[in-house]
Amino acid sequence: MIPEEKVREVAERISIVEVISDYVPLRRAGANFLGLCPFHGEKTPSFNVSPAREIFHCFGCGTGGNAFSFIMKIEGISFPEAVKLLARKTGIEIEDRQLTPTEKKAQDEHSQFLRINDLTTSYYRSILQHGQEGEAARQYLTDRAVGEDITEAYRLGFAPDRRDGLVKHLKNNGIDLNLALKLGVLRKSESGWYDLFRNRLIFPIKDARGHVIAFAGRVLDTSLPKYINSPESPLYHKSSVLFGLDMALPSVRTGNAIIIVEGYFDHLALYRAGVQNVVATCGTALTGTHAGLIKRHAERVYTLFDSDIAGRKATVKSMELFLEQRIPAYVISLPSGDDPDSFLKEHTAEEFISLKDKARPAFEYFVRSLLAESPPDSVDSKVRTIDEIVPRFRKIADSVERDLYEKEICRLLGITTHAFRKRMGGGKLSSQEVPADKDKTEQPADNVQETLLALLLYYPEARVKIVQTGLDNIFNDDYLELARTALDYLSDSSDTHDFSQLAEIVEKPELKSLFSKIMVSDQYLADIEWRAVFDQCTRSHEKKQLSSIKEIAARLAVLDQGSEEYALLLKQADALRTRKSKL
Ligand code: UTP
Ligand code: MN
Repeated sequence: MIPEEKVREVAERISIVEVISDYVPLRRAGANFLGLCPFHGEKTPSFNVSPAREIFHCFGCGTGGNAFSFIMKIEGISFPEAVKLLARKTGIEIEDRQLTPTEKKAQDEHSQFLRINDLTTSYYRSILQHGQEGEAARQYLTDRAVGEDITEAYRLGFAPDRRDGLVKHLKNNGIDLNLALKLGVLRKSESGWYDLFRNRLIFPIKDARGHVIAFAGRVLDTSLPKYINSPESPLYHKSSVLFGLDMALPSVRTGNAIIIVEGYFDHLALYRAGVQNVVATCGTALTGTHAGLIKRHAERVYTLFDSDIAGRKATVKSMELFLEQRIPAYVISLPSGDDPDSFLKEHTAEEFISLKDKARPAFEYFVRSLLAESPPDSVDSKVRTIDEIVPRFRKIADSVERDLYEKEICRLLGITTHAFRKRMGGGKLSSQEVPADKDKTEQPADNVQETLLALLLYYPEARVKIVQTGLDNIFNDDYLELARTALDYLSDSSDTHDFSQLAEIVEKPELKSLFSKIMVSDQYLADIEWRAVFDQCTRSHEKKQLSSIKEIAARLAVLDQGSEEYALLLKQADALRTRKSKL
């Protein structure tokens, strides 16, 4: 651990503009510095650095934070390593020291979390291995040709059809059940504690170091939902976890490539066949964070998604992420109707490898599948196809590649490069280019909520007013957590506030992004009449609440009054009304 005073000393000694300038050319633009974002491909600068706040933010991909976060991300290193790296640059010496009680507590909690997951894994595992209740699951695995060596490699388990088997197991091991609740493996109701997973085959989800951080449970039959997954928790953020990364890393290191699949069983099928550089998303679409993680470990990526419409959409979406982060991406296509599991049932691993060797560059796959969907047989369909292609084409960072693709596209569409470029230019190119670079996974910005957050951050009097009104009454769920964190920080530390330190405390990527965005936004830098803005914002927030009450009322009108949904909505409407009356 690095002493907190040392971290602050380093933070004070460095200038974020200098630190970032070592990696990215920056030029001054108003109060901020501006450059091309190093974390996604772009041609119009949307990467902002605020020297006043010591914060950076990219309006294109949403990445943001302080100088430490920048170094962590660009060098792919941990926080302490980033602090050490910057300390070396400024000539500050750092010795590790003992933990403070608060740090110790956080670390203890973390190790308790890991212990709970270990106990949970081995509990499910022992039932699968020799429990009487594990018989059906053992049969299921035998039917799917999953042998002992594989169940051991994945540490597969089985959750019996019991209300509180895990509850008891954890209790017997002296676990504080409230901690297990935070991990989502247990739940609590009026009638007591109960297990999340019941009668399901269990896949432990591990981080890159092999620590179990969550679980997925599959039914043994055709009932629904097929999988139940652990909720988000202090250990588990599904948008940044790749299932199987720990098992894949050794072979990723030798081959420099990663294959991405959609399902746990797809992962298993490939791994069993000896193709081990494979990861799977955990029941969610691929995100920019996933892409970044892949880039840290591999030079190339292969997507292997289902050949249906959803799979094709996922392929195109992932291609955009890889183009943005400049990761060469290829698409492996299986015969239609197959997934990796079914393919490998009928074919050998060699046959799979030869399919992989025939993988097409993702962009080429994209253009070809567009053309297959709507053949370029009329001016109209050509224009539509070009308009689909253009925003993605702009994301190709490499100029040689762009050239080649341009030629290819024009040949396939039967148009001249002049016509293509004209459509690309479209007269409005510069204003269109910026939104085309935007990460579409970013949540739509709520300006009112953002402004209210800015008031909370910058205006102590507004802060008092906000606290009086109640955070819950002002912020909706997307903003509430950040508001709370900021408020805690601002009321805890007595001296002048260091916003760049707050950037370290905010850990969730989407909140970090929101925070850095507010920090570098010009409109919040100027002095404003906080009172007038506050009133205006709360009024407009109130209006929105009102319209959601109206929506709820409309829904209530058509629902059966005895139904669960009716009761639930009624509760929501009441809650909204009380909130409103407090404003
Ligand atoms: P699949 O239905 O293809 O599952 O969903 P699978 O893992 O390949 O299983 P088999 O071969 O049909 O038995 C792909 C992935 O989507 C997520 C899981 O991550 C799954 O592995 N998923 C699917 C869920 O999270 N919930 C569901 O109800 C279904
Ligand atoms: Mn599948």
